[in-house]
This record gives sequence, structure tokens and C-alpha cells, in this order.
Amino acid sequence: STPPDLRGLRVVVSAGPTREYLDPVRFISNPSSGKMGFAVAEEARDRGAEVVLVTGPVSLPNPPGVQVVRIETALELRDAVVEAARDAELVVMTAAVADYRAAERSEEKQAKVAGDVTIHLTPNPDILAELGGQKGNRVLVGFAMETHAGVERAALKAQRKNADFILLNYPTREGTAFGGDDNEVTLVRPDGTSEEWPRLSKREVARRLLDEAVRVRGTR
Ligand code: C5P
Repeated sequence: STPPDLRGLRVVVSAGPTREYLDPVRFISNPSSGKMGFAVAEEARDRGAEVVLVTGPVSLPNPPGVQVVRIETALELRDAVVEAARDAELVVMTAAVADYRAAERSEEKQAKVAGDVTIHLTPNPDILAELGGQKGNRVLVGFAMETHAGVERAALKAQRKNADFILLNYPTREGTAFGGDDNEVTLVRPDGTSEEWPRLSKREVARRLLDEAVRVRGTR
């Protein structure tokens, strides 16, 4: 029943969290489940695309018919996505990339000390912005999670990162975003126009996301 409207298209999807190690056994991360990105990868596959899914550590099995690259850190995610994006027509960044990593990753497990400790963090590269800086003919899609002033902030983000659109979601709505099977998103374009979608399954969000990407591609 699914139309093969993405046949021959090369699609890269990033999913899940990243882990930023402080030492071999400790890391900074977030609760991203990977479900949104896996749904995009599976929907794109079912519509005929050649899909590379670059994912951080999640408990989901590899989707059949998708090339899966498992990574841990933001730096590894960057390398894998940039490499895969080279000959892709569509890149969808659903990964919850950690904004910072430890300035120094200790090779040995750090012993506990008395009193407070200070961790120096250094910014991770912004992968979506990097792809946006050498966009070519690719369609670039991002996600954003905001607790306030979402549409304005997402529109500015889309402009700054040179993304074609951003799906804004909300970390505070029960059963959505992190870990949920549903999502409630607002499509935000760099020109500030937006469309609020109802609460939908992540698969249905993926379907509409890909419809919008196909539409954007048609305007090129
Ligand atoms: O700036 P912010 O993290 O809110 O942007 C979210 C979007 O940018 C997501 O699509 C995310 O995957 C992407 N991103 C990225 N590299 C980063 C941080 C976010 O590609 N270092």
C-alpha cells in the first residue's frame, strides 16, 4: 500500500542519544530511545529509499533492509553521518546529540575523592550545522526540543543551521518525545511558518516528515 516514492533516494537518519565518556565507565547522556529515528528509517525503507541509520546506544534491534551504523560519542556520530551524507539526497537528524563532551577523557577509571569535583566540558561539533554549511542539493531535516518560545527558536535554528525544516517537540508532554511511542510535533520552516500536527504515532510522524521532504525536494 505504501507508494515507492523514495525509490533510488539515499537517505541518512541519525537516531538515539550520544554518550560522552568521562572515563571508561562513566558518561554523560540523555534518555533518547531512538524510536523516532528508527521510525523514519523504516518508513523511508518501505518507500523504496536506500537507508543508512546511524544510531547511538538504544535497545532497538537493527531494522531489516537498513544499513545500521552503531556509534557512541558525538564525534563518532559526526564522522559516520558526514561520511554517509556525502552521496545522500536527504539527511534527517533525529539524534539527541550531547552539546558537550569532557575536555579530557580519562583512560583510567577516576577514583572517588573527598569533596566536590569539577568537570570541564567542551562543545561538540554541530553536525546539522556542518551539513548545512555545505548543503549542495540535499534536503536537511532537524528536530528540536524546546520548553518555551518553541516556534521562534526552532525557526531561528533552522535558519542558522540551514535546515529545510525542523520538527519541534516538547519534552514535557506525557507519552511523547523521549521514550514514547507517539509524538506531538510542530513543523517549523526557516521563514517562520509552522504547522502544528496532532498527536500521532512516531511512524505517522515519519510518514508526514518524508512527505514534506519530498515536497521540498520538488521545489529545487
Ligand atoms: O541546537 P539543537 O541541539 O537544539 O538542535 C537540534 C538539532 O540539531 C537536531 O536535529 C540534532 O540532531 C542536531 N544537532 C546536531 N549536532 C549537535 C547538536 C544538535 O546535529 N551537536
